[in-house]
Amino acid sequence: MIRPVAILTPLTALLLCLTAAQAAPAPTSAMSAQVGSMRQAIAQGKKIYVGDSFGSTRTWVPDMAFHSRSVTCDTCHTNGGKTQGTMPDGRHIASLVGSATDFPRYNPKKHEVFTLQRQLVHCIRAGIGGTAPAYNSPVMVDLEVYLIALSKNTPMGRNVK
Ligand code: HEC
Repeated sequence: MIRPVAILTPLTALLLCLTAAQAAPAPTSAMSAQVGSMRQAIAQGKKIYVGDSFGSTRTWVPDMAFHSRSVTCDTCHTNGGKTQGTMPDGRHIASLVGSATDFPRYNPKKHEVFTLQRQLVHCIRAGIGGTAPAYNSPVMVDLEVYLIALSKNTPMGRNVK
């Protein structure tokens, strides 16, 4: 059997490199959506936190309310995460102030080190019932910025002693 042999002259090699460079995919985004300042990125993150259901159709009816609402981060991590959270079933969870600095941390159930974004993916899937955006996508970065803003006075690296 005759095997095809690729013969690369220096010129074809150069041409291949040039076309490869042009066709190279853009790097995965690790940026916020376009903003003019950190303050704007935090505001964008907060908007997502309070209002985004990530495609989920789950709803809940807050105490004393007549109408149901879509599930968002704020459904459980109430008041923008600034105070103790109250889940729809009445269970209380800790506020998210300082929580960003608790990552990366070991998750003994999954035998993995969870980053903050990994935790967000978990909450979006399990808590909201939605589809998580890609890691480092603008939405993830904005959410991360918002959570880090809630931890601005907490020292980081608590779990890597
Ligand atoms: C259905 C309720 C629910 C929803 C909705 C939800 N979470 Fe969570 N989240 C939890 C629970 C429960 C925990 C475990 C916290 C605990 O036991 O203190 C948690 C943990 C977390 C933690 C880690 C807190 C810590 O320090 O341990 C972060 C950060 C977080 N959630 C962010 C989010 C964000 C951002 C969203 C929206 C994208 C969201 N969550 C949506 C219920 C929810």
